[in-house]
Amino acid sequence: MENMETRGIKEVARHAGVSLGTVSNVLNRPHVVAENTRQRVLEAIRELGYVRNDSARQLRAGRSRTIAIVVLDVSNPFFTDVIRGAEEAIEAAGAVAVVCNSGQSVSRERRHLELLEEQRVQGILITPVDGGRDSQLINLIKHGVPVVLVDRGIGQSGRCSVAVDDVLGGRLAGQHFRELGHERVAFVGGPLAIPQVNDRQRGFESVLSDIQVLTFLTAELTVAAGRQAGATIADLPAAERPTAVFCANDLLALGLLQEMTQREISVPGDVAILGYDDIDFAAAAAVPLSSVRQPREQLGRAAAELLLEETRFPETHAHRNLVFHPELVARKSTMRPTSPRR
Ligand code: RIB
Repeated sequence: MENMETRGIKEVARHAGVSLGTVSNVLNRPHVVAENTRQRVLEAIRELGYVRNDSARQLRAGRSRTIAIVVLDVSNPFFTDVIRGAEEAIEAAGAVAVVCNSGQSVSRERRHLELLEEQRVQGILITPVDGGRDSQLINLIKHGVPVVLVDRGIGQSGRCSVAVDDVLGGRLAGQHFRELGHERVAFVGGPLAIPQVNDRQRGFESVLSDIQVLTFLTAELTVAAGRQAGATIADLPAAERPTAVFCANDLLALGLLQEMTQREISVPGDVAILGYDDIDFAAAAAVPLSSVRQPREQLGRAAAELLLEETRFPETHAHRNLVFHPELVARKSTMRPTSPRR
């Protein structure tokens, strides 16, 4: 019984005056076909409008060449940089990357995961909405779909993960403010139920035990939440206002910077602001933003390489939890101009 795919290839072969094997080689091993023959077959494919039926090949091969990248929030440049790093490794391996945005919604994440399993994707890189504890994701792993956790759900056994040492990142922020001589500082971030936010706050406070640390919790890690926190801080009497603020990510810090600037509160003169991630907009801000840099593209690349290893060498692959180190990038938003030497 001929299927649509076989009939299509036969018509291409007849039209191009070559064998079925030559058409198959043009599609799967073009390097073994003479260039003029290859062009003749490609011309026949164009003229006949032949489209390869990948689902048939997927069924024979067991899985597609597609690797899914499921992120929390595509509007946050942190994730687009992670995606860029992952795509580089995925495409270098001859696979294809597809991106899904959960928008921090568990139900949307579940719908994406359901569809990706139906499509028999080769594997999934995911920053899970609830830290990798959702039953849909756990069942997908039980069904044998390779999964690598990115940035969240870290340290859970039975799967690979990549992350950054956020406690160290918080410590770098606290040490920076201590070196600058600040004695009344603040942490802006939330929700603390997010382990990465909690770790950043803990690391920050761990090096400032002898200094007053105010905490302003936000519902989200967004520019709008940063502006709201900025308004609260700006409304404090000047004597109670912190002279330095560490934000759990750059979007919060950029919102805070925007609010201070609009209220003509000098940054860093009246209040120093430090972010986290070091997205490209940090350096480009009106007052270049100091930030604790996460190696975003490296995270994405490493996650993809772990997944590719697991799919290619399942017998020898060992699950690993990779942890990268952040680094402090000091810019104008925390660095008071050095007083001119007299
Ligand atoms: O939820 C988004 C944040 O979490 C990013 O800004 C990055 O800091 C990640 O850890």
